[in-house]
Amino acid sequence: MYCMNRFAATAKIKSKEYLEVGGANFLSGEVEISGAKNSALVLMAASLLTNEALVIKNIPNLTDINVMSDLLASIGVEIEKTPKVFKLKADKLSKKKLKYDLVHALRASFFCIGPLLARFGSVEIPLPGGCEIGSRPVNEHIKALEALGANIFIEQGVVIAKLKGSQKKLKGSHIQFNCQSVGATETLLMASTLAEGKTILENAAQEPEVQDLVDLLNSMGARITGGGTKTIVIQGVNKLNGCEHTVIPDRIEAGTFLVAAAITRSPLFIHPVIPEHLRIVLEKLRDCGCLIETSNNSIKIIPSKEINSVDITTAPYPGFPTDLQAPFMALMTTAKGTSRITETIFEKRMQHVIELNKMGSSIILEGSNIAFVKGVKDLTGTYLTAGDLRSSAAMVLASLSAKGISRIQGLNYLDRGYEKMEEKLRKIGANIVRSQLLGSHFEEKSNSEIKTIIPHNKEQEVA
Ligand code: EPZ
Repeated sequence: MYCMNRFAATAKIKSKEYLEVGGANFLSGEVEISGAKNSALVLMAASLLTNEALVIKNIPNLTDINVMSDLLASIGVEIEKTPKVFKLKADKLSKKKLKYDLVHALRASFFCIGPLLARFGSVEIPLPGGCEIGSRPVNEHIKALEALGANIFIEQGVVIAKLKGSQKKLKGSHIQFNCQSVGATETLLMASTLAEGKTILENAAQEPEVQDLVDLLNSMGARITGGGTKTIVIQGVNKLNGCEHTVIPDRIEAGTFLVAAAITRSPLFIHPVIPEHLRIVLEKLRDCGCLIETSNNSIKIIPSKEINSVDITTAPYPGFPTDLQAPFMALMTTAKGTSRITETIFEKRMQHVIELNKMGSSIILEGSNIAFVKGVKDLTGTYLTAGDLRSSAAMVLASLSAKGISRIQGLNYLDRGYEKMEEKLRKIGANIVRSQLLGSHFEEKSNSEIKTIIPHNKEQEVA
C-alpha cells in the first residue's frame, strides 16, 4: 500500500534511503562501540607529517572517513585500506592545494593546513565554511599559525599560507587561545611538532580526541607534554616517523547508546568504552535514575522505570559534550518534570526541537540555545527529517520509544557519524530497518512487517 508522501515532496531529499522504526521497543544485550570519528579524522591528517607509513587501527566505517581518505589521496597520500585498519604514506605528495568540493564536504579537511605548512612551508586550502550547526569560524587556527611565523591571507575563499620571507621552518611561540577549540588545538599540535623551538598552547582543548592525537604524535617521535590539560608544551623536532596506533572508542556513539537504553527503559552493556571519557554524562544518567556499573572498558546501564528530568549545559570537555545534547534532549521528552537544556558551543544546534515536537513532545525554545523540555507520557511515531548528524541520532532514539511507526529521512547525516547504527540496534532487539524511497513514495509497512524484514545487506549475506 502506498501513501502520497506528505513531506518528501517538500523536503530536500538528500538521500533515497530512510529508516522505519516500529516503536515502543524494549532492548537488551551488548553493543559494540566503534572507533572515535573525531579522533580517526585528525589522526589520518597527521599522516602528512611524515614520509613514513602510519598504520591506524580501529577506524570506523563512516562517510566522513571516506571523504577524508579521498581528500588525502587527492594530494598524493597512498592509502591501503582493510576493514578498520588504514596504512597511510605521504612520501610522494603531488600537490599542496586541496580541492574545494572535498573540503566543503568535510570540515575536518581543514586539519591538513597545519601538517602541510609545517612539513612543506606552504599550503592552499579553501575555507571550510559553516555547516548546519553554526558558522564554524577558523580564526583561532589562523591567528595561532601566524604566531608560528606563517604569512596567511584569504583570496576568494581560499586560505593561502606560506612561511615568512627567508624562514625555513615554523618557529615555536607562546599561544593563548580565546576559546577552547578542539580543531585549533589539534591544528597547532600538529604544526608545532616540526617547528623550531618550544610552543606553549594556553587554553587548549582537553577532549579525549585531543589526547589521542598527542599520544599518536609522541609515538611518531614528537615531544609533547600536558595533553588533556589546558596547557600543552611542544618541543619541536626535525622529523617524525611512522608508527602504529589504535583509535580510542567513540564516546559520543557510546553515549548515544546509553541514551537508547534509558529512553526505552532497557538494560544494555556497552563496550569497548572508556568510562572516564563520559564521566559527566554518567553522572547525569544517574541523576535521571539509571543504575550505572563500569569497568575499565565497559559500561552497564539499568534504567529505572521512571526517568527524572535533569538540566544540562554543554561545555568544553570535561563538561557535558555538545555532541550528546540532541540525544539527551530526546531522553528528556518522556522524563518526569521539566528539563532546561542550554547549548553553549554552537549557535544553531536545536534543529531536533521541531522534529521532536512533531512526535508529541513539549519543548519550548527560549532564544536559539535554551530549551525547556516538559516530559510527556508517550511520543507518537511520525515522518521525520534530520537536519544534522546528532539531531538524526536524536530522532532515531525518540522513535525507539514512540508508539507507532516513524520514518526518518536524512540518513546522509546519520551515516557520517554512526557506523551501522540500525544493525547495532536490531542486534539488541530494535524494530528498525533501512528502506529505499520508491520515487518520492514511502511504502507504508506495519509494525510486524518491519520486524520480519531482513535488512537489504542481510539478504545479500543469505543469498
Ligand atoms: C570538533 O569540532 C568536533 N569535530 C565536533 O564534532 C564537536 O562538536 C566540537 O569539536 C566540540 O567538541 C571534529 O573533531 C571533527 P571547536 P571543531 O573548534 O573542532 C568556536 C560531531 O557532531 N571556534 O571546538 O570544529 C566555534 O565556533 C562534530 O561529531 C572559533 O570561534 O569545534 C565553536 O563555538 C560537530 N574559532 C567553539 O569554538 C575557531 O577558530 C568550539 O568549536 C574555532 C572554533
